[in-house]
Amino acid sequence: MRFQAPTRIYFGSGMISRLKEIIEEFSKDPSLFLVTDRGIIDSGIAEKVLEQLPGIHVFDEIEQNPKHNTVNKAGEIVRKLKPDMVVGLGGGSALDAAKAVALLATNPGSIEDYEGKGKYTSPPLPVLAIPTTCGTASEVTWVSVVTHTERMFKMSIKGPLMFPAVALVDPDLLVTLPPPLIASTGMDALTHAIEAYTVKAATFMTDIFARESLNLIFQSLEKAYRNIKDDTEARVGIMKGSMIAGMAFGNSDVGAVHCIAEAVGSLYDTPHGVANSVFLPYVMEFNLPVAMARYADISRIAGIDEKDEEAAAKKLIQTIKELSRILNIPSFRDLGIEKDKFFEIAEKSFQNNSNPSNPREAGVGDYMGILEKAFKE
Ligand SMILES: [Fe+2]
Repeated sequence: MRFQAPTRIYFGSGMISRLKEIIEEFSKDPSLFLVTDRGIIDSGIAEKVLEQLPGIHVFDEIEQNPKHNTVNKAGEIVRKLKPDMVVGLGGGSALDAAKAVALLATNPGSIEDYEGKGKYTSPPLPVLAIPTTCGTASEVTWVSVVTHTERMFKMSIKGPLMFPAVALVDPDLLVTLPPPLIASTGMDALTHAIEAYTVKAATFMTDIFARESLNLIFQSLEKAYRNIKDDTEARVGIMKGSMIAGMAFGNSDVGAVHCIAEAVGSLYDTPHGVANSVFLPYVMEFNLPVAMARYADISRIAGIDEKDEEAAAKKLIQTIKELSRILNIPSFRDLGIEKDKFFEIAEKSFQNNSNPSNPREAGVGDYMGILEKAFKE
């Protein structure tokens, strides 16, 4: 069994006000490069960083599902500026891009040269990650997902030196997050926890983080969606749940839900959390024959009172469908995906690095079946 969680974590409401102090604990007067997006600048969140770090160079061009050309552009700038540290501020896209930019700062070529595991030759720059959503947990994982727009493929760039050095996790940064983003990123976190708990490589360590994450997410997601501004407990709960789900899946893996979500995201630019939410219950139905006991465990964590294992597992799937409805997650049909793309999506899902981790072996035909079932309902 191997478990790695090397990121130094600072967690707490209002923690962002200690940013300067935290950076100083890590390094004395480093030069800094901020990777973020326009939305974070416009929302005023970036101001909380800029006022403490006036000399920081800002790159704010990261888009949803970060694209290889954008990351490479930031990489060229960072090589010229030679900062000591990269600060990532935003949702998973900004944080994943920050990790990729940190790699390019110390390694030649383009980000696509580093697709796969541990392809870098020099250690990337240290990254300080500040999440502003409650889903991807990129602040504590070793992976950066970057879309190659010509191949229409989501590349995974990862390695043991790509964990952020520091995560500054402040649940108060969620206060201005619109409810649809609480919903989709929270469902991404729920998917992480469920997949981490059911994939082949789950261990007793990842189980600990996955179980507690599920507990927190089931208790807080709906409340956070309804009232993120005033419900402090829900805000803290969903941020904790998201973060530790990352420590679970970062060490076990994700499964078929993410394989489909990444395929759909690369073709249609669908928000990652929305794609996960849409396919989660249908992949669970597919996995049911081999994951029943684990789903029954999760059902107890979700507060479902059902003794029979199969009935408990099936009720959990219904509960998740219901949760998606409550959170107003779009349906598969709303995503605008043409049926004639199903085969391509199924093939891309099958080719995903995480496909072998899924608890039940899934071939192209199985993915077609999942897509067709999700489309019918
Ligand atoms: Fe995810």
